[in-house]
Amino acid sequence: MAMEVIPTGAALGADVRGVDLTQPLSAEEFDAVEQAWLDHSVLLFRDQRLSDDELIRFSQHFGALDIAPASATDMAGAQEKSRSEIWIISNVIENGKPIGALGDKEAEWHTDMSYVDEPPMASVLNAREIPRTGGDTSFGNMYKAFETLPDGLRREIENRVCNHDSSTTSVGELRAGAGEVVDVREAPGAKHPMIRTHPATGGKALYLGRRLNGYVQGMELDASEALLDALWAHCTKPEFTWTHQWRVGDLLVWDNRCTIHRRDSFNGAERRVMHRTQIKGDRPV
Ligand code: OGA
Ligand code: MN
Repeated sequence: MAMEVIPTGAALGADVRGVDLTQPLSAEEFDAVEQAWLDHSVLLFRDQRLSDDELIRFSQHFGALDIAPASATDMAGAQEKSRSEIWIISNVIENGKPIGALGDKEAEWHTDMSYVDEPPMASVLNAREIPRTGGDTSFGNMYKAFETLPDGLRREIENRVCNHDSSTTSVGELRAGAGEVVDVREAPGAKHPMIRTHPATGGKALYLGRRLNGYVQGMELDASEALLDALWAHCTKPEFTWTHQWRVGDLLVWDNRCTIHRRDSFNGAERRVMHRTQIKGDRPV
């Protein structure tokens, strides 16, 4: 069956049909997948019920894998026993311990692991169990957010560097070993340019990480807060986004260099279990 790429019609994302990711891809097949991914920034593959080994093998087509991120302090259970490249995202509690990260709350807009010097270029997420409603994941196109930035804002961020806080997860929980941030100017994390150039497409994208505890280096605190608020209000406008409603077996691959994402909350009485890998990336420039 020939591979088909069907754009979502929104600001980013495409549906890829006719590929079975439990099987290794040929070089030609992967080239087509990679080109579609660079063109659309997020790819959806339906009906892919992958084992961890299959998820890892598919992910490795994109490059070497990164180790999963540190989760909240109370994390334990299945996560500890799984492979170090797999990050489990789940609200399920077994024997009094969460089997994965992020619970059932809303996850705010972010890009993955930008609080390290060399953040993963991509994340791959495969749905194993999903609630009947809620828990949708939305993506934002940061090339478009950059292209449409008002001139004043663009000038303010040219050659500016922002700190990407490492202390909390996207649901606002403290990571294991992290202390509470009292002054964002002192927050731990990584410092990255606010505009980055995509190494493969050459496109320029806004690069903000997440709003919580962000700080624009060298600015007065109030000015940094106002600038970040204005940038986040701009880049999360609906015209730059696309929302995915999950089915079991869905697999999404997104490009962390030019997109952001968030997740809706859902009914904690239902189960949501997702397995993720992350692919090593370069220092943003
Ligand atoms: C992630 C993430 C959202 C979700 O995998 O990085 O933010 O839908 N997940 O669970
Ligand atoms: Mn994420």
